[in-house]
Amino acid sequence: AGIFTYDPGFTSTASCESDITFIDGDEGVLLYRGYPIDQLAAKSSFLEVCYLLLYGELPSQQQMEKFRHTISHHTMVHEQLAAFYRGFRRDAHPMAVLTGVVGALSAFYHDSTDITDPAQRELACVRLVAKIPTIAAMAYRYSTGHPFVYPLNKLGYTENFLRMCFSYPTEEYEVNPVLAKALDTIFILHADHEQNASTSTVRLAGSSGANPFACIAAGIACLWGPAHGGANEAALKMLETIGTVDRIPEFIKRAKDKNDPFRLMGFGHRVYKNYDPRAKAMQIQAHAVLDELGLHNDPLLKVAMELERIALQDDYFIEKKLYPNIDFYSGITLKALGFPVSMFTALFALARTVGWIGQWKEMLEDPHQKIGRPRQIYTGAKPREYVAIDKR
Ligand code: CMC
Repeated sequence: AGIFTYDPGFTSTASCESDITFIDGDEGVLLYRGYPIDQLAAKSSFLEVCYLLLYGELPSQQQMEKFRHTISHHTMVHEQLAAFYRGFRRDAHPMAVLTGVVGALSAFYHDSTDITDPAQRELACVRLVAKIPTIAAMAYRYSTGHPFVYPLNKLGYTENFLRMCFSYPTEEYEVNPVLAKALDTIFILHADHEQNASTSTVRLAGSSGANPFACIAAGIACLWGPAHGGANEAALKMLETIGTVDRIPEFIKRAKDKNDPFRLMGFGHRVYKNYDPRAKAMQIQAHAVLDELGLHNDPLLKVAMELERIALQDDYFIEKKLYPNIDFYSGITLKALGFPVSMFTALFALARTVGWIGQWKEMLEDPHQKIGRPRQIYTGAKPREYVAIDKR
């Protein structure tokens, strides 16, 4: 017995208290620890944002140096982990590989199983933030059949990641600072987003006291879906399908047609009923990358900008409060940076790892923490007597 509140999709249930991220969907506001996302995107770095999300304050110069040093000394992965990759088929999706490999880290770090020890919790956070670029780059290199590249710790976090993805032992590699800045900003924009599906998954998995690496693997699995992290891939494919500016009205018409399942990918959001503040910063980076690469006449960018302009003047989109979200411009940018579409969600996972593990840590330090155990509204059969198989 018991009467429970039924809230499918948890649209009006708060599952926790959190000090980390604030969203006002009506006003289009996103704050990390109180700092507006546009300021962080313009002025901060991803590693500094990691510090902010994990420890609650922006670091002093000295704290930042120490953090950078700590992270850079945990960028390597165990050599046996490389062998683990080789068990996957070459054509495995990078998200399948990431789910498996990050889960496997729990077998390499048995010490992390003692989550009651604050030093071990801290170490799990550092290890994850430090190793996830190495692990994601290895997933990419494995898919292309190219040799793994070891981290080079004198480089910055994102520069190092780009080098691990795109450098070859046969030639010199210089990181382009404009492209590195763009990717670093993309990481900032994806770092946390309060209790979205994957973060809630990490918290729920962690609430039983499970190994943190296993919890993050659960988050990666959840992020993979097209309604969550997979939308950037879908938005790029849509822009490619539309192809030219003259075909936009046809697709706008389809998006408005109730009998047509087509939706404008990269438009609309469960929480934002205003311009997604991340989309603005993303648009700035899209322009920076395409200008740097001499691709400002990119037909996809033209389609995207014109589509946005037309949709924002259309009554349907105005009435339903449908605005571009973060995924609208991210696909164009990531493609220009040289990443295949299959890596887009893996890059999201890389950036969100700090949010996931920060929320995991916060949960374990919360004195009200309990195992997550939702109830249900039972709709099945009434009690009945068992019937032997020969009598059915
Ligand atoms: N194009 C056309 N119509 C839309 C769209 C769209 N992109 N999004 C919502 N609508 C309409 C929808 O048909 C519905 O109309 P009606 O009330 O007449 O039935 C109304 O707007 C409300 O939509 P909903 O699906 O009930 O809203 P939701 O909060 O459940 O869904 C959403 C939010 C993001 C899943 C949805 O807007 C969507 O499918 N957008 C396209 C996919 C996308 O860009 N997803 C990325 C989300 S941001 C990344 C992340 O956080 O992981």
